Amino acid sequence: MLKHFFQQRPTLLPEPIPDVSGLLVERYRSQVTQKHIQHDPAQIQALHWLQKLLEELLVKGAGSQKPCQSLYIYGDVGRGKSMLMALFYDACPITQKRRVHFNTFMQEVHAFIYKWRQQNQTDAISALAQNIRTSVRLLCFDEFHVTDIADAMILGRLFGKLFELGLVVVITSNRHPHDLYQGGLQREQFLFFIGILEKAAHIIELSADQDYRLSYTSTQQVTYYCPTSAEPSERIESMRHFVWQTYRELSGGALLEPDFISVLGREIKLKAVYKDILFSSFDELCAQPLSAADYLAIAERFKIVMMVAIPQLSAEKRNEAKRFMTLIDVLYEHSIKLICSAQVPAQELYREGDGAFEFQRTVSRLIEMQSDSYCQRADTLRK
Ligand SMILES: Nc1ncnc2c1ncn2[C@@H]1O[C@H](COP(=O)(O)OP(=O)(O)OP(=O)(O)O)[C@@H](O)[C@H]1O
Ligand SMILES: [Mg+2]
Repeated sequence: MLKHFFQQRPTLLPEPIPDVSGLLVERYRSQVTQKHIQHDPAQIQALHWLQKLLEELLVKGAGSQKPCQSLYIYGDVGRGKSMLMALFYDACPITQKRRVHFNTFMQEVHAFIYKWRQQNQTDAISALAQNIRTSVRLLCFDEFHVTDIADAMILGRLFGKLFELGLVVVITSNRHPHDLYQGGLQREQFLFFIGILEKAAHIIELSADQDYRLSYTSTQQVTYYCPTSAEPSERIESMRHFVWQTYRELSGGALLEPDFISVLGREIKLKAVYKDILFSSFDELCAQPLSAADYLAIAERFKIVMMVAIPQLSAEKRNEAKRFMTLIDVLYEHSIKLICSAQVPAQELYREGDGAFEFQRTVSRLIEMQSDSYCQRADTLRK
């Protein structure tokens, strides 16, 4: 669990500074030429900031008095924030770097703090900051969002320490820092984090003019099925039928058996498993109080997640909606194939209530996860 933080990277002898000038735009343009992506002026603009940081990171070196300005990139879903971050990260030649998804990072943070407090009297957050800083100088933090009070309370102090220690971060988020953790409990305390962030980072908006995920097409296989019948009992039956039918095609009709996975000393029972396929229902995974750690364990154990009957969620179902969001984030991040049936199209699953704004990311992802290119990637990983 803590291996990334503890891992000591070798200390390098001084080396000539590699020439990275113009590197990011050059790589971007080459992807455009190869028709992997479309040219987008707003992305180029954001790339200039990343380029500037890349050059500064190399020139200033680790021991510099004045640390580089970090970068916080926000914007609507599917605009290419994660893609640009990946481009930057891959091009960055420093060894003390790490890219991590928000959910995984917070998971590790909580595990570290828990363990530290069992064994020590001293401040866990300072120890954690030191620990992170020992192995990492650049932290790329994808899909930053704060909905949890436990996270909100830790972030301010943790990042305060990390910035003091000269850590540089690149963050992507769907929200401007001022809009983070809106309406959250004890938000006043969270304002401290926003202040720290604004001091340490340039805040830039990526306003590319389309959600690129929506341009993905699916021709090969249906992986998100919505019933067409108007009759409620037929709708339920056809949602079940679709997932079963697809399961039979995939497994040759092999018997599904109960299984369990262990997460931090707890056991999570799963009703129906066959090899790397988890056959589940919405209620099984999202109506119970499962957490990001549990979903991570599922994503690590299975390559295909099948889910019967995702309902349309009303405002009162905010907890189910939040869990479903976390689940989809984790599955998407791990390129897990999702085969599911739902009462309504993804755009209509959860439209009002707490977290409906964040849920747009889930919608955008559910659409991409149906695309041929996503499914092919998932299939390749499965082999
Ligand atoms: N200029 C582009 N041309 C074609 N496809 C693109 C372009 N930019 C991004 N994409 C693709 O669109 C999809 C969404 O991009 P990405 O995941 O980077 O968006 P994001 O801004 O991080 O979204 P989110 O806010 O949901 O995290 C990815 O598959 C990415 O490869
Ligand atoms: Mg992203």
